[in-house]
Amino acid sequence: MELSFKEIEFGTEEYDRSIDLRYEVLRKPLGLQYDPEVLALEYQDHHLCAYTEDHLLIGVLLMSEKENGNVKMRQFAVKPEYQGQGVGSALVAFAEKWARDRHFHRIELHARFMAVPFYLKQNYMIEGEEFIEVTILHRFMYKDL
Ligand SMILES: CC(C)(COP(=O)(O)OP(=O)(O)OC[C@H]1O[C@@H](n2cnc3c(N)ncnc32)[C@H](O)[C@@H]1OP(=O)(O)O)[C@@H](O)C(=O)NCCC(=O)NCCS
Repeated sequence: MELSFKEIEFGTEEYDRSIDLRYEVLRKPLGLQYDPEVLALEYQDHHLCAYTEDHLLIGVLLMSEKENGNVKMRQFAVKPEYQGQGVGSALVAFAEKWARDRHFHRIELHARFMAVPFYLKQNYMIEGEEFIEVTILHRFMYKDL
């Protein structure tokens, strides 16, 4: 599969499509909605996307700069029909290059329990105890760049 990757701008048509994908993958299965007041703060984040050769959005993640100087990877969603085909690992590689190019030294994330094996395969480390977010178990993970 021929993929392309790019950063998209907050508040654009492409951004709206990325919210649709995030809702489908990360919120709807939990019976949850996005809070418009929380989404309104996403102008601060970097929105990295993966597209097919037909320009279909199939993957998205956010990179959020933290006060500790690290960057947090979050809201990672691959379109269900495209999961398990290497899209997620390719988007992680794009995000890691994006972070290295901006001189970040560490990526942090809160991994849903089901996704921990995926991040271990991308060489992320687990730290601390499990905790609950959006009703499900998570682990804190990080990777030094
Ligand atoms: C987790 C997610 C982003 C991974 O993206 P993906 O495109 O499915 O992952 P890839 O196809 O690149 O997988 C890379 C490797 O991780 C493995 N993997 C992916 N998801 C896995 C899982 N949930 N459990 C175990 N292994 C997994 C794949 O089998 C593959 O292994 P291989 O390299 O030996 O073939 C995607 O499945 C997804 O959107 N899941 C639902 C939402 C979610 O959990 N997001 C993360 C929130 S923290």
